Amino acid sequence: MIIKELDAPGYERVVYAEDSTSGLKSIIALHSTKLGPAAGGCRMFKYDSLEAATIDALRLARGMTYKNAAASLPLGGGKSVIIAEPKTDKTPELMQAFGRFVEALQGSYYTAEDVGISVEDIAEAAKFTSFAAGLTDGPYASGDPSPVTAKGVFLCMKVAAEHGLGSPDLNGKTIALQGLGHVGMHLCHYLHDAGAKIIAADINPMAINEAKERFNATIVEPDAIYAQSADIFAPCAMGASVSVPSIAQLNVKVVAGAANNQLADDNCGRLLADKGILYAPDYVVNGGGIINVAAEILKISDQSWVNGKVKQLGETTDQILRKSSDTGEFPHRVADRHVDDILAAI
Ligand code: NAI
Repeated sequence: MIIKELDAPGYERVVYAEDSTSGLKSIIALHSTKLGPAAGGCRMFKYDSLEAATIDALRLARGMTYKNAAASLPLGGGKSVIIAEPKTDKTPELMQAFGRFVEALQGSYYTAEDVGISVEDIAEAAKFTSFAAGLTDGPYASGDPSPVTAKGVFLCMKVAAEHGLGSPDLNGKTIALQGLGHVGMHLCHYLHDAGAKIIAADINPMAINEAKERFNATIVEPDAIYAQSADIFAPCAMGASVSVPSIAQLNVKVVAGAANNQLADDNCGRLLADKGILYAPDYVVNGGGIINVAAEILKISDQSWVNGKVKQLGETTDQILRKSSDTGEFPHRVADRHVDDILAAI
């Protein structure tokens, strides 16, 4: 395996590995280890070029610094990408080679699942590294983080509802939910139990049927979800769904959901505020999953530690939205400053 350093100003270390036997081409980006070893999942995607993969790894690694710090975890920010098509290129050998790559960083980076990487894939990597989490077997195995992510999103959504709708009670409120995947479906469960009405969209017919049957969800076409008249829009599919065209259609008072990097760009935070829509910052709201993974990394088997940290996400959301309302600064900027202050204090 050939491992070489890449130059990336503002990042502690970015490394590229190529292994001709398994076909591995992978980048690990360490944005910051100020708070502890960097932790963040591995994404497998058929990037068009090494440059595109590097840009994605850098963006995601930085995001993890902010997410981990906002969740008060003793972990820094890092992320890895594998340049491959998950459906056709993935082999046990490829994932094992990735495990050897992670091991070569000697614990400065912990990997886990992300888009295109399953628990089985991480188990293959873990045969060659002790710095992999999100496993299903082992004394501290944390398994699928999605239910914990959904729990955190639900708690933070209630806090956002208190600020944006005047009450945390979601009974009778309408939630326009985009994406009925691992997190979205668990979120439906919480919302349904709370008495909320769900309008949902997905591109997967099986998920649509499940949401209709279990949660009495009203289903709309994927493109129609933005224009629904609802109290809250919950993006739980892909990133950048809060964009200039989607904001123009939104007919809600609050945006709070699980997706990473919801705002297509920084200006979208301002556009939401201009429209009187309250935005609950994504990396605070969706921190439940990394909290669950962190318990495994930090070898904590006490579930009350996870529950306490997830509860704290709601408190952090409350502080951010309160400060935003007091100062007029947009919530996403208040959240960034909150993390910048944590990092600057070290
Ligand atoms: P997933 O892949 O299980 O679910 C995504 C769902 O979105 C799928 O059902 C898919 O069919 C649907 N979808 C894709 N394009 C769509 C479109 N245009 N319109 C409507 N639906 C569409 O992913 P998962 O794990 O549920 O994650 C959802 C989001 O939350 C992602 O952005 C992920 O990065 C983020 N996230 C997930 C965490 C976790 O614990 N799984 C933790 C933190 C963030």
